[in-house]
Amino acid sequence: MFDRILPPTVACAHFIGDDPDASVFPSEEAVIAHAVESRAREFRTARACAHRAMRTLGISPAPVLSGEHGEPLWPLGIVGSISHCRGYRVAALAKNDAVLALGVDVERYEALPGGTPGTVCTSREMDWLASAPAGFHWDVLFFGAKEAVFKAWFAQHPGWLDFEDIEIAFESRPQSFSATVRAKGCVAKEYAGRFAIEPPFVGTAVVVMGADQNRPGKPTWKADLESRPISASQTSDGHRVRR
Ligand SMILES: CC(C)(COP(=O)(O)OP(=O)(O)OC[C@H]1O[C@@H](n2cnc3c(N)ncnc32)[C@H](O)[C@@H]1OP(=O)(O)O)[C@@H](O)C(=O)NCCC(=O)NCCS
Repeated sequence: MFDRILPPTVACAHFIGDDPDASVFPSEEAVIAHAVESRAREFRTARACAHRAMRTLGISPAPVLSGEHGEPLWPLGIVGSISHCRGYRVAALAKNDAVLALGVDVERYEALPGGTPGTVCTSREMDWLASAPAGFHWDVLFFGAKEAVFKAWFAQHPGWLDFEDIEIAFESRPQSFSATVRAKGCVAKEYAGRFAIEPPFVGTAVVVMGADQNRPGKPTWKADLESRPISASQTSDGHRVRR
């Protein structure tokens, strides 16, 4: 699904459900040390997707830890985004000599709980919805688009946004949208995004193309110290085993 909406410079890997064999690095495992098992499985599966995408980019898998706001911390020279919903995990990555920021979001393609887009949409978006083409779950499309924009935004401007800070305009060009972010203290910023519907899922992606002149394009993560992810499978006495 994401292959259809991401440019070739972005490597993407997904998994339907949870991968019982997902391997993660010890430092990644530490992130979920106190997580419930369902969250741990989700996390491991998405991290394993990120490692696969790194291989596609031609780099050795390295840990992806979590920042203080929950954002993924990518190896130097890499930008990326992770998303999961019930039944689907995805990681999308690119080198920062081609992409400045990206955001992906996956949701179940069904009406949002409560069935009203009012909490997600601005008044202008609500006006557009009044005559929007029938047959789409526009509420979840607005939601997914704003989450993807937020992730791309956060990579360059760490700070929170509210739904009303992002205005989405779906385009007549198939499955495309533009987004304007108006955040306090920042000039308005424009994004372009795409979405793909493959029931029961919808994927949304926002990619900011460009080369980061200030960052090296070569990963320098201390991969040697953690060169082998550990397996998600466990020994009978409950200890993790290395593969
Ligand atoms: C962070 C947030 C975008 C996650 O979205 P979600 O739909 O709940 O969950 P998803 O599965 O799509 O994404 C989760 C992943 O987002 C990533 N993420 C978390 N915080 C992030 C941030 N600040 N910036 C970029 N990515 C972030 C993480 O990789 C996380 O997965 P992980 O914990 O396994 O690493 C969302 O919960 C959030 O807080 N948004 C900001 C507040 C908001 O909703 N504002 C209105 C819309 S802008």
